Amino acid sequence: MDFPFDLNALFPERVSVLDSNLTAGRKAPGRPDPQIQIATVIDELGKASAKAQQLPAPITSAAKLQANRHHLYLLKDGEQNGGSAVVVGFLKVGCKKLFLLDQQGAHVETEPLCVLDFYIKETLQRHGYGLELFNFMLKHKQVEPGQMAYDRPSAKFLSFLDKHYDLKNSVPQVNNFVVFSGFFKSRSAAQ
Ligand code: ACO
Repeated sequence: MDFPFDLNALFPERVSVLDSNLTAGRKAPGRPDPQIQIATVIDELGKASAKAQQLPAPITSAAKLQANRHHLYLLKDGEQNGGSAVVVGFLKVGCKKLFLLDQQGAHVETEPLCVLDFYIKETLQRHGYGLELFNFMLKHKQVEPGQMAYDRPSAKFLSFLDKHYDLKNSVPQVNNFVVFSGFFKSRSAAQ
């Protein structure tokens, strides 16, 4: 995924945390408005993620990020591409009001932090980048993987959650969200 601009200037940090403001650093004098370039990067990532998951349309775009209270974590590798950096992938999270079924099949109204989209560039998958990004988000949000809900997770993502966080036993739901067995325990402990 190549872009005709300097990704290291656009995204000064290895992981950038983007929200509806679409800003990742300070605007440098004399440079074009970074928002437009950031929007281009997000739109391309959203399209690549949708393609990888065989979705009919992207669930991530700059316009959607601007319209919602989501956080998008964008990972770059500043050393690659002759030092001009590559965008490795992204993870998008946000809180959603959900009606979930607990282990006894009772409806529970919740508003957990949800993983909404997650994508690592095909050639860079299985190199630990996804784990780096996910761990960054967990620290930033001060949350444990078992306390989160997962929107229509792919087979690769389910394998990822099992391997890295030992999340195996999901509690059956009637919507597209997946939660794991500890989800309801950690909720009742917090109440
Ligand atoms: N096939 C099966 N499992 C995979 C694959 C794959 N091609 N790629 C990664 N995984 C899982 C495995 O558990 C793997 O461990 P293993 O190699 O020992 O089997 C583990 O992830 C590797 O961990 P990382 O290297 O940290 O993960 P990666 O950088 O590949 O990121 C991700 C994981 C984001 C799921 C990536 O594979 C990807 O972008 N896949 C395509 C898009 C996708 O399915 N995104 C999830 C959408 S669902 C949602 O967002 C709610």
